[in-house]
Amino acid sequence: MPRFPLIPFPARVSLVRRQVFAGLLAAAALPLLSACDRLGGDEGFRGIDLTGAAYAQGFSLTDFHGRSRTLADYRGQVVMLYFGFVQCPDVCPTALARASAVMQQLGTDAGRVRLLFVTVDPERDTPELLREYMAAFDPRFVALTGNPEQIQATADTFRVHFKKVPTGGSYTVDHTALTYLFDPAGRIRVALRHEQTVDDYVADVRRLLAESTL
Ligand code: NI
Repeated sequence: MPRFPLIPFPARVSLVRRQVFAGLLAAAALPLLSACDRLGGDEGFRGIDLTGAAYAQGFSLTDFHGRSRTLADYRGQVVMLYFGFVQCPDVCPTALARASAVMQQLGTDAGRVRLLFVTVDPERDTPELLREYMAAFDPRFVALTGNPEQIQATADTFRVHFKKVPTGGSYTVDHTALTYLFDPAGRIRVALRHEQTVDDYVADVRRLLAESTL
């Protein structure tokens, strides 16, 4: 007597169909997920998530009008904080041009966003020079300065590295080129890398703005 398979034939067909169907579903789901990713529809930031970090908590410096400034002065706004110097040949102008493009792309929401530029070259970056430099990119940008000890302490707080490098009779300054984002409640949230795009910056800023209106 021949042995029949334990699973009757029609049921086996249905099993195969289910497997094929499941495979098709999985294949269809993949492009959806990656599209979601590209649109920022997932849960993550485009930059490095610093939510809850124990460093990069704030600063106490002087703005380019001579006023004492702390992070609390910018409560209610998303703060983009960046360290650099006026004579930077390439990286800082690129970062500031991008920040200006971010402000433009944000449209009316830019009114709730503030770029703060902390000089790592306070000896050469006078308040007047900083005012001119910021105005060249966006009149809404604010530069912060202090004595060399204050600047070093602030950089240390943000784990930002900078170092004078002699160039002939002068010097340049190598420095970390991250942009830190604070949410409107004044909490450190994100560090965006220099290589990231205007869209990446806008996505994370918008995310923090949207959070604060929930
Ligand atoms: Ni620079």
